[in-house]
Amino acid sequence: MAPAEMMQIPTDEMKIDPPYRIVNRLHIDAKAEHARLVAGLRAAPAHIEPKYFYDELGCALYAAICQLDEYYPTRTERAIFQEHREAIAAAIGRGGTFVDLGAGDCCKAMSWLPFIEPIRYLAVDIAGPSLETALGNMAPEFPDTEMLGLVTDFSQRLEIPAELLAAPVTMFYPGSSIGNFTPGAAVEFLRQVRGAAGGGALLIGVDAKKPKPRLDAAYADALGVTAAFNLNALRHINRVLKAGFTETNWRHAGFYNEALGRIEMHLEAVREETIQLDGMQRIFRAGERIHSENSYKYARREFEDLLRESGYQSIQAWSNAAQEFWVFLARE
Ligand code: AVI
Repeated sequence: MAPAEMMQIPTDEMKIDPPYRIVNRLHIDAKAEHARLVAGLRAAPAHIEPKYFYDELGCALYAAICQLDEYYPTRTERAIFQEHREAIAAAIGRGGTFVDLGAGDCCKAMSWLPFIEPIRYLAVDIAGPSLETALGNMAPEFPDTEMLGLVTDFSQRLEIPAELLAAPVTMFYPGSSIGNFTPGAAVEFLRQVRGAAGGGALLIGVDAKKPKPRLDAAYADALGVTAAFNLNALRHINRVLKAGFTETNWRHAGFYNEALGRIEMHLEAVREETIQLDGMQRIFRAGERIHSENSYKYARREFEDLLRESGYQSIQAWSNAAQEFWVFLARE
């Protein structure tokens, strides 16, 4: 039998390089994060950042939300992508770098790669281990695309090392995650995205405004999955701060605020609750709320204005027949 090295059969001693590369640029300022969280909980009204939803259980609950009948955005965006795949891919063009912002399990981007055939796929996410798993699974399917992962927290500032980007660059930001920024912060973020793309394009999914009952149901589903997702943030915060929240003292409130064009999610105290914040007590009275998330909804024209304010001039848009969700391809 020929020696293993000659036959290129991996042995325990041979080290195989993974067919992807991960660049870690995650700088967590734990002190500043702690201070922001404590200040938000001390404030009146109290508030927390939506990132406290996304521990391991929270990510699983979000995946479950995306399967709910009431939560239409995920499947509506998927249907628009499927229906208009070839037209959108033709407008993007082939080659270059496809940058997946908030890649998660990379599933949404994966459906684009055969149509765009980028020379490089750059998955950007705060969760390094999920990126490794996803890229490891994907890489064999796309041998002609260089697979890269960038671990960073772009909710504070988007910084992509220029050497990771081969022009032309297409930024991909699906799922209406842009709705979780206030409109002002969305413009700031989209300017950063445009700057990082260096004259490239942005493919973005945005949830549309619609009647209140439909939106209320999407964020307060009958099974209580969104309620669990919201309440789970208290468990996460208990781990981080040893705050001593008792979940049964809280309830989920999720509703569409028509005047502000946004879903609001709150945690509402059903009875008085005292928690500990760095050795000091914070008393929440019954009915007092912690604001945990906004999800802005945009009419087509409103979002086109927001894109223009962010420096994008050329804008194409696709939707489904009922115009429930919009997909935009924007360029400078
Ligand atoms: C991640 N983001 C786009 C979701 C949304 O619809 O705003 C988060 C979410 N919150 C409750 N349900 C889903």
